[in-house]
Amino acid sequence: MTDFHISVLLQEAIAGLKVEKNKKYIDATLGGGGHAREILRLGGGVLGIDVDQEAIDYVRENLKSQISNLKLVRGNFRDIDRIARLNNFEEVAGIIFDLGVSSHQIDAPERGFSFQNEGPLDMRMDQELGVRALDLIKILTKDELNEIFNKFGEESRSWQISEAIVSARSVKEIKTTRELAKIVFKTAGESKKIFQALRIVVNDELNSIMDALPKALGLLEPKGRLAIISFHSLEDRIIKKHFLEFERKNMGRIITQKPIVPSDAEIALNKRARSAKLRIFERN
Ligand SMILES: C[S@@+](CC[C@H](N)C(=O)[O-])C[C@H]1O[C@@H](n2cnc3c(N)ncnc32)[C@H](O)[C@@H]1O
Repeated sequence: MTDFHISVLLQEAIAGLKVEKNKKYIDATLGGGGHAREILRLGGGVLGIDVDQEAIDYVRENLKSQISNLKLVRGNFRDIDRIARLNNFEEVAGIIFDLGVSSHQIDAPERGFSFQNEGPLDMRMDQELGVRALDLIKILTKDELNEIFNKFGEESRSWQISEAIVSARSVKEIKTTRELAKIVFKTAGESKKIFQALRIVVNDELNSIMDALPKALGLLEPKGRLAIISFHSLEDRIIKKHFLEFERKNMGRIITQKPIVPSDAEIALNKRARSAKLRIFERN
């Protein structure tokens, strides 16, 4: 499924879940279905969730020969408990979260995720969300922009960038990825951190993870496992903190004292894997 997405830490995540035949698993971030397909190959049943209708449609078409063991639901993983209940996936042997965006989302210019492709400043993973990145750029105050660039982009020049945006938008509305990238470039060079911050806010990414983790743990059967792949330090910090909290409350044990990271060979094949970290937790 390389045209839609190259799965990151595929074997490591599947090994971490200890997939067994005829057991049930939830893939909370279906994407191109790479992890789901591997679980199905090993004989597990899968409930696949994604907020993006394009991901659901792609996997429905590509895994149609396996559809008897696969349920697909468009939804947000912050509702994982409700989605699991409605689909009879309440006591599961494992749940995987592979966070962030798929290559398909990044590469599609019309989705507006990449500063390298010209497109509308959209960045919604769920096409039904009401607020796009261009709306934030239009309505947030200088202080608010500064706060999100600082907090969610960890951008040291957030104040100068916010000033440049506010000054530019008073002349002409900023509507596209390249328009924004050009403004940021003049002040700070690359706009990766600014795009990351906007994406996190548009999709309410960090709150979704915080909501989902305790719910996911509650869906696991005894000895069931949670495998989570994250791509930046803000996400990884949340996961680490939750795992420590679960362990402190005697709900299970952390399997990965240090996160599992991709091999040099994987990074050479897929640059996007560079920042990936996999953490695994086992329920009592
Ligand atoms: C990195 S991709 C997953 C790739 C997949 N594991 C594979 O191997 O093909 C992440 C996917 O998670 C989805 N996603 C992100 N946040 C979500 C959320 N809160 N709820 C449901 N899906 C989400 C995105 O739309 C995207 O398709």
